[in-house]
Amino acid sequence: MNWKIKAHVLALLSRVPGGRGAYHLLQRIGGTNRLQLDRDLERAFELVDLVHEAGGTIPSSNVLEIGTGWRPLVPYVFALAGANSVVTVDVNPWLTAAYARETWKALGTRLSQIAARCKVDLRQLQERHHDISTDGNSIEDFLSPLGITYLYPADARSTGLHDNTIDFVVSSNVLEHIPRDIQTDIHRESNRILRPGGLAVHRYNPQDHYSTVDSAITFANFLQFSEQEWHWYGGSGLAYHNRLRSRDYREMFEEAGFQFEVCRERVDERSLQAINNGSLKVHEEFAKYTPQELAVDYMWVACRKLAASESETESCEPCLGGAAS
Ligand SMILES: C[S@@+](CC[C@H](N)C(=O)[O-])C[C@H]1O[C@@H](n2cnc3c(N)ncnc32)[C@H](O)[C@@H]1O
Repeated sequence: MNWKIKAHVLALLSRVPGGRGAYHLLQRIGGTNRLQLDRDLERAFELVDLVHEAGGTIPSSNVLEIGTGWRPLVPYVFALAGANSVVTVDVNPWLTAAYARETWKALGTRLSQIAARCKVDLRQLQERHHDISTDGNSIEDFLSPLGITYLYPADARSTGLHDNTIDFVVSSNVLEHIPRDIQTDIHRESNRILRPGGLAVHRYNPQDHYSTVDSAITFANFLQFSEQEWHWYGGSGLAYHNRLRSRDYREMFEEAGFQFEVCRERVDERSLQAINNGSLKVHEEFAKYTPQELAVDYMWVACRKLAASESETESCEPCLGGAAS
């Protein structure tokens, strides 16, 4: 599909009365929010891997997930990995009791994989999975025995959680959908609720999401537009993407007082080539970035909240290229 068709449809639906409802109906019919167990499990495992890589241990920890979405895969995986509590917040009500149940049942077929990736005992995991009843009517009934609290509508800028009580703030495929000023406030809030030494762990996707429906365009295609032009296609509404580049994300974490333990950036070679040979004409608003920064299509970050006694001048390791572990 030509990406502009999708972009125009979404831009129109974002602006007409009832458009949001129609969009969700289309998503249901089209199966956009259907369970993609292996893909989404792998994404949750990447967060677990980042925690481990940064020296964290999940058993008995307290976790906040930003941006629950449709399926609580990340809270399930952290709960099964032994977290004491997982609070998951979203400004939108995408999660339903039916999705929560269906996803939980499906995990039953992946317990040995979860045990291996999360480094927990398989037998205990099997008992835990077996003991959770999927009969409860509400999302709360079902999630609370797992130590999971779903808060909606809840904004990650203002969680209501106490200072210094959270071990890990995590998110998957969320940050690219949040404007810079809001993201700055989210990182500030994360820094407040994390205990000293706690980790902010995020994986996110700075690529043009329309490239998933149109193979003719590169992952950096949207960089040809000014902010004003992009406003219609995806700078507002249902398809919002902030187009922030890797440098912006690094700056935001640093400004919030975090120190990088892991920072991996994947450069998309096809985008890089298109930028370097001029077949993709990047708008002058992006002139300050290097071609590599423009062509980053995925990032994996684990950064630590410094203890008060730690020097403010501690330097951050530069981000490294390459895929997630
Ligand atoms: C693209 S979805 C990703 C959902 C889920 N993490 C996944 O991977 O499927 C981004 C989610 O972030 C949520 N979100 C956006 N801004 C937020 C905020 N300020 N606080 C909490 N959630 C937010 C959106 O409502 C949406 O559900």
